[in-house]
Amino acid sequence: MSDFLNIFDALKHPAHRHAMLVHWPIALAILGLVLAVLAVLLPKNNLAKIVALGAYGLLLVMSWVTVQSGDAAHDAITMPLSNEVHELIERHEDMANKLWWFVAGALVLLIVGFFGPQRPSAVRIGASWIAVVINVIAVGWVSLTAHLGGTLVYEHGVGIRPPGETMGNQVTPTTAPASNHDHQHDHGSTNAPGDEPAPAHHETGFSTSLPADALALFRNEAWPILESRCLKCHNPARVAANKSGRLDQSSLEGLLKGGRSGSAIVPGKPQESLLIQRVRGLVPDEDVMPPPPADSLTEEQIAKLEQWIREGAAWDR
Ligand code: HEC
Repeated sequence: MSDFLNIFDALKHPAHRHAMLVHWPIALAILGLVLAVLAVLLPKNNLAKIVALGAYGLLLVMSWVTVQSGDAAHDAITMPLSNEVHELIERHEDMANKLWWFVAGALVLLIVGFFGPQRPSAVRIGASWIAVVINVIAVGWVSLTAHLGGTLVYEHGVGIRPPGETMGNQVTPTTAPASNHDHQHDHGSTNAPGDEPAPAHHETGFSTSLPADALALFRNEAWPILESRCLKCHNPARVAANKSGRLDQSSLEGLLKGGRSGSAIVPGKPQESLLIQRVRGLVPDEDVMPPPPADSLTEEQIAKLEQWIREGAAWDR
């Protein structure tokens, strides 16, 4: 409706929020360094000290906020990730988490340097200059961290492909999991139907986005439910006839495009997915899906659909 609201819409995506926030620690680290040097060089000027400490306090807060936004952006990743990308993300997060220590250390030393004991003046002077050196390292560190993050985004496309859309010269999401699957799991990982898909790389903590597991979940759990309980109404023919809320569930595109009310699934976010809301009967004045007199889905089936969406809604049909 009003165009400028779209800007805020764009920031609803965690990756976009993170992209906006990351500039703060970089800017503040550089600003803090300049202010700290100024304050050290002007030992009589209390304002300079307060301003420098303020910049460091703000840097501490913004580092924390940025790390949180990064975690959220990480959680929102729905594309299948290669091992190389997993490792880059881990290193990026490791570095970001350590920035804290530099900033906190520098802040403590600056306080000692500014307000510490008068007597052996070496204590103040020493603390101040060590703080400045740590600041210099912090600037380098935050730049490297940001550079790694930039590599993830611009070289690997992490976080810039909205869920379900094709990215650059890559394969479409419908085939991407299948092709990655071949690379990463050539030890043959066909799960027998009913098997709990075994997370392949638990130690990394990233198993949820590994394609083999997500695909097994789709093939063995989610698709059989959609096919047996929904498709007889939610298929292209009925949609063409303007029926079933115009929602086609025979393809991922159909689900993402959605029907009358917009997207039926939001990959990564089962609670925000209309499909889940409807099978749980959570939408006021609307039938639970499948509509009566058909039996509702069981809690176990709904949990499987939720898990499938949470893990990125992999699809290979
Ligand atoms: C007997 C036919 C039938 C079956 C089976 C059925 N639906 Fe529906 N569905 C409808 C009709 C008709 C509508 C449109 C009216 C409404 O929104 O209640 C609809 C609407 C929906 C909508 C809202 C679409 C929109 O954009 O407003 C969702 C989501 C949905 N169904 C999900 C499901 C799921 C998931 C299943 C299977 C578990 C399912 N339906 C099974 C007939 C069916």
